Amino acid sequence: MNKFKILIACLVLGSFGCAKEESENAITTQESESATTSSTLALDEGVTLKNLPFKFGAAVNVNHMKSRPEYRDLIIKEYSSLTAENAMKIGALHPAQDTYNFTDADYLVNFAIANGKRVHGHTLIWDSSLPAWIKNFQGDYPAWKKMFELHITTVVKHFKGRVASWDVINEAFDDSGNIQNTIWRQHLGPNYIDMAFIFAHRADPAAKLFINDYGHENGNSRREGIIAYVKALRAKKVPIDGIGMQFHTRYNRGTSSWTKAINETAATGLLVHISELDIAVNPEGVKGYVPTAERITQQAEAYKTIFKLYNAIPKAQQWGITTWNLTDNDSHLKSRPDYPLPFDANYQRKPAYQGILDGVK
Ligand code: XIL
Repeated sequence: MNKFKILIACLVLGSFGCAKEESENAITTQESESATTSSTLALDEGVTLKNLPFKFGAAVNVNHMKSRPEYRDLIIKEYSSLTAENAMKIGALHPAQDTYNFTDADYLVNFAIANGKRVHGHTLIWDSSLPAWIKNFQGDYPAWKKMFELHITTVVKHFKGRVASWDVINEAFDDSGNIQNTIWRQHLGPNYIDMAFIFAHRADPAAKLFINDYGHENGNSRREGIIAYVKALRAKKVPIDGIGMQFHTRYNRGTSSWTKAINETAATGLLVHISELDIAVNPEGVKGYVPTAERITQQAEAYKTIFKLYNAIPKAQQWGITTWNLTDNDSHLKSRPDYPLPFDANYQRKPAYQGILDGVK
């Protein structure tokens, strides 16, 4: 087995027994070195994704940051932007009508500042992760509007000057590209989207404001609906700066889908953030799935393709690419099981890491 195959096998199976096999094979790998140059580069300690031509971010889990030194070290080493995976959602920040809890989010923001990372705020308004007090909120239109405005204003002002950008609205659209009937729409009308941007901009005029959603790469109607809606917001002078594409995608979604999503979104001229990237290798959800070397290679190719497409859009529109957490072990898809990220459970670089480097060459 050459070194590259061993590496793949280790990544796929976990590291058990691999260190020994690798050292036993070290002497015999000389002749295959030229074929493995690219993986050697990925393993070079001097290489870091902080040096990509655009920001490379991760959604991070504050509990892991507090309790796992390896997790913190990987953030420091590889990422230039951080998003809170959960700590800035309404349920976390605003658990009761008169109670805000900024402890975890402040920890994240202070860590980011201390380590020279940008912070992207996620998310001001969403229909999910809602605390009970909002689900049960009783009130007429003015009462809902006041509560909505107060949440946005309090949160954005708290982080003013420390959080560079916000997902103001998250997952507002349905598969046909229409506005979903969220709790906010039910009480405030579809205009809640305009209002959210206006309130956020008033609270921090320097923050870049995004509309974030999933599925831009899954067929045309969603993406076209979102783009048309954003253009209408701009025409009405609503202060929106960019489009966040979550990109929870899969190894075999296909280049043409990724190309359309990235290029058509970039054609708006607005900032483009690939905001929650992960690339599933078990999209079918097969129980007990263990990824094959072939699929891990296909995943690396998918990372390469997406980073290459993104690298080709105008520099001034590149807000960055953020993956949804750091390692396969921390992914929100872990229980499926899935292995969608560029680092494995041992914080080691996967072939996807090399795919990223190749994509921006
Ligand atoms: C997910 C988190 O990863 C989970 O830990 C949490 O239980 C639920 O939310 N789209 C989004 C993210 O915008 O906020 C979601 O994050 C994943 C899908």
